[in-house]
Amino acid sequence: MYPNDIQTNSYTTTSQGQNKFQTSILFSINDSMGSLKEYLSIISSYKLNVVRIESKPSKFEHKDYDFFLDLESDNASMTEIDNVIKELKNKGIEITVLTQKNQNKATIPWFPRKISDLDIYANKIMEMGSELSSDHPGATDPVYRERRKEITRIAAEYKHGQEIPRIQYTDIEVDTWKKVYRKLKELFNTHACIQHTKIFPLLEQYCGYSENNIPQLQDISNFLSECTGFRIRPVQGLLSSRDFLNGLAFRVFHATQYVRHHSVPFYTPEPDVCHELLGHVPLFADPDFADFSQEIGLASIGASDEDILKLSTCYWFTVEFGLCKEGDRITAYGAGLLSSTGELEYCLSDKNEKRPFNPFETCKQSYPITEFQPIYYVAESFQSAKEQMRKFAESFKKPFVIHYNAYTQSIEILDTRDKLINLCNAIKAQTNSLADAIKTVSYL
Ligand SMILES: [Fe+2]
Repeated sequence: MYPNDIQTNSYTTTSQGQNKFQTSILFSINDSMGSLKEYLSIISSYKLNVVRIESKPSKFEHKDYDFFLDLESDNASMTEIDNVIKELKNKGIEITVLTQKNQNKATIPWFPRKISDLDIYANKIMEMGSELSSDHPGATDPVYRERRKEITRIAAEYKHGQEIPRIQYTDIEVDTWKKVYRKLKELFNTHACIQHTKIFPLLEQYCGYSENNIPQLQDISNFLSECTGFRIRPVQGLLSSRDFLNGLAFRVFHATQYVRHHSVPFYTPEPDVCHELLGHVPLFADPDFADFSQEIGLASIGASDEDILKLSTCYWFTVEFGLCKEGDRITAYGAGLLSSTGELEYCLSDKNEKRPFNPFETCKQSYPITEFQPIYYVAESFQSAKEQMRKFAESFKKPFVIHYNAYTQSIEILDTRDKLINLCNAIKAQTNSLADAIKTVSYL
C-alpha cells in the first residue's frame, strides 16, 4: 500500500488573487509519436496549458515511454482537468495524477472525488508487489516469484465495479494458510476484541473461512458490503499512506491476495492474505470500527503531507496495532496483532507500555516496523476513538470542507449554497425519520 508519493492536483492562488489549478500527470505509451500528438491535441482542446513535458524510458511492462506533464488551467475549476483525464482514459490510456508542490502558494493535494478514481492507484505501489527485496523469504525462489507476478497482475488490471477474479490457491499456499489459521484461532477467543470474536464465526459461515480454504476477496467484499458498506479492492503491494488512507474515505480497503513464503509461515515482511483476511477483515464488518476507519480516511482527503504523516501514525497505533478496553480487561483489535501469533500474546503481557489513545499525542510517537511494539495505545471504545479522530481532523488546516455522499460514493466539496441546502435537506429528512422513530418506540 504505498507508491512514489507523486500525486497531486494543486489549487493555487496567485498574488493577483487569480485562481489557477496545476496538475501533474503521468501516462505511458508505446513507441508511437502519433498517439502522443493526439493526446496533446485533446489537452489543448480543453484550454489547458502544458507548462512542462518530460519523457523517460517506461518502467511499465509493454510500454516504451513514460510522459510527465504539468498542466495549468486559468479557470478556477478542476472540471477541465477532470474532463481531460476522463477523455484520455476513454482513449484507453492509463493516467496517473502526480503530486506537485508549490511552497509559496496555498496547495490542496489531489484527491479522488469518486470511488472509481481509486483505479488510478492500481499501478502506484511503492514496493513489493511482484518485485521482492533481497531479504524477502521468497526472493531466491523462482516459483514463488512467478506466482506473485501471476497474482499481482489481477490487482494491476482490476477496475472498480468488476468482480474480483478468484484465485485457485495451490496446496502449498493452503498449507501455509492452515498453519497460521490454526494457531491464531486458538488465540482469538482469549486475546481478540469482542467484535472480532463475534464476527469471525460469520466469516466461517458465509465467506468460506476455514483452515483448509483461503477465502476469496469477492465473497468477503460482498459480505462486508452488506454489513457496513465496506468493500475490498485487490492491490499489488504497498501503497503510499496518502493513497491507502484516501481509499478508506470511500469505505474501500485495499487488500493483497498473495500468500507469504511457505518457508516461514509465521513471518511476513509485508501484508499478505493471512494478514488482511485474519487481521483486518473481521473488524470492517463492525459498524463502529467501519465508521472509525472511514473517519481516518476522510481526514486524509486533501490533507498536507505533514498531516498525512500524523494520520498514518494514528492508523498504525489503531487499525494495525490498537488495543481496546472491554470492561476491566484489555483486548487486541489491530490487524498487525491479530495476524501475528507472537505479538498477539506479547501485546497483552506486561512486557510493554500501554497508554490511553489520544490522537493529538499518539500522532507524535515513533515506532519500530520490524520488531514488536514497545508502546501500545488503548482505545476506550471504537465510538470514542471515532469522536477523537473527528476532533483531531478538525485541527487540520484545510481551505475547504468535504462531505461523503454515500448514495453517489463520492466526495463533495461544500462550496456552494446549493450544495449546503441539499445537505441540509438530507439531514432534515433523516432527523424527521429519527423523530418519528422515537415517537413510535416510546408508544411500544
Ligand atoms: Fe495492515
